[in-house]
Amino acid sequence: MTKPKIYVTRKISEKYLEPYFDDFDFTMWSKESIPVPRETLLAKVSEVDGMISMLSETIDKQLISHAKQLKIVSNLAVGFDNIDIPTMQKNNIVVTNTPDVLTETTADLTFALLLATARRLVEANEFIKNDEWEHWSPFLLAGADIFGQTIGIVGMGRIGQAVARRAKGFNMNILYHNRSRDMEAEREIGATYTSFDELIETADFIVSLVPLTDETKHLFDKGSFAKMKSSAIFINVSRGQVVDEKALYEALKNKTIQAAGLDVFAEEPIKSDHPLLELPNAVCLPHIGSASVQTREKMIELCLKNLHGYFYGAGPLTEVRL
Ligand code: DGY
Repeated sequence: MTKPKIYVTRKISEKYLEPYFDDFDFTMWSKESIPVPRETLLAKVSEVDGMISMLSETIDKQLISHAKQLKIVSNLAVGFDNIDIPTMQKNNIVVTNTPDVLTETTADLTFALLLATARRLVEANEFIKNDEWEHWSPFLLAGADIFGQTIGIVGMGRIGQAVARRAKGFNMNILYHNRSRDMEAEREIGATYTSFDELIETADFIVSLVPLTDETKHLFDKGSFAKMKSSAIFINVSRGQVVDEKALYEALKNKTIQAAGLDVFAEEPIKSDHPLLELPNAVCLPHIGSASVQTREKMIELCLKNLHGYFYGAGPLTEVRL
């Protein structure tokens, strides 16, 4: 059998690919921090049997119309909203993602963002750097407690559950909302299922972990922020488009809610003139939820195993099925 041709849409170290050199014929985009230009991607996709893609690539009808022999797209992310799944299914192209290996790392980041936002860590760091620390005072940069407060998790998948386990360690009261109830999470973690409205009205910390779908687009809008407590802290580690960013900006500016911690944005990357960055009560990160070295290595390894499984018999390990 001739080796399947695989295109990797971002430069990654050859050390990850090397164990597969006998099995695949790899080509790779040459830059690590710059996405492959669309024209290059369209040309490349016509020549290959498989791809390792990033969430920055839109895998849509146009791209598939250029594919002549593409059989599998191995996406380096658990989210797959960058891929038109029905089109892929229609064309018998398998899609895989990277669940599980990134769960704990993403939950760590979610909690880091929650802590940083509640205790105003970024503001405090800036305060010192700007030479504003002249005296200690009782309410200097006083934030909000986390221990013993109520967390509301919207989207109780694997990452939601891992966040809930961390919340348990902080003695938090755990509410969740999900498409379906998760009796195991209720039993094991002591999480309580509520309606979406009850959750956003009562939680001190509202954590969005829902995938982006037609149903979840702008789930957090003006109306939702208005229902939250004025002391509420909103955390988004899922996808930017689940939030109406203009409404969030207004809610933060007018103190409808207390603060927000955001790892994701409607259009990424954002630049320094993005309105949310002017707000002291927003902590913003450049989509680094699963970005630990160990986890990124595991994600790459899983992408490769999925390709290997597909082409060499065992089947892909983590196929996306709707
Ligand atoms: C994912 O895997 O979907 C994350 O957003 C990437 O960090």
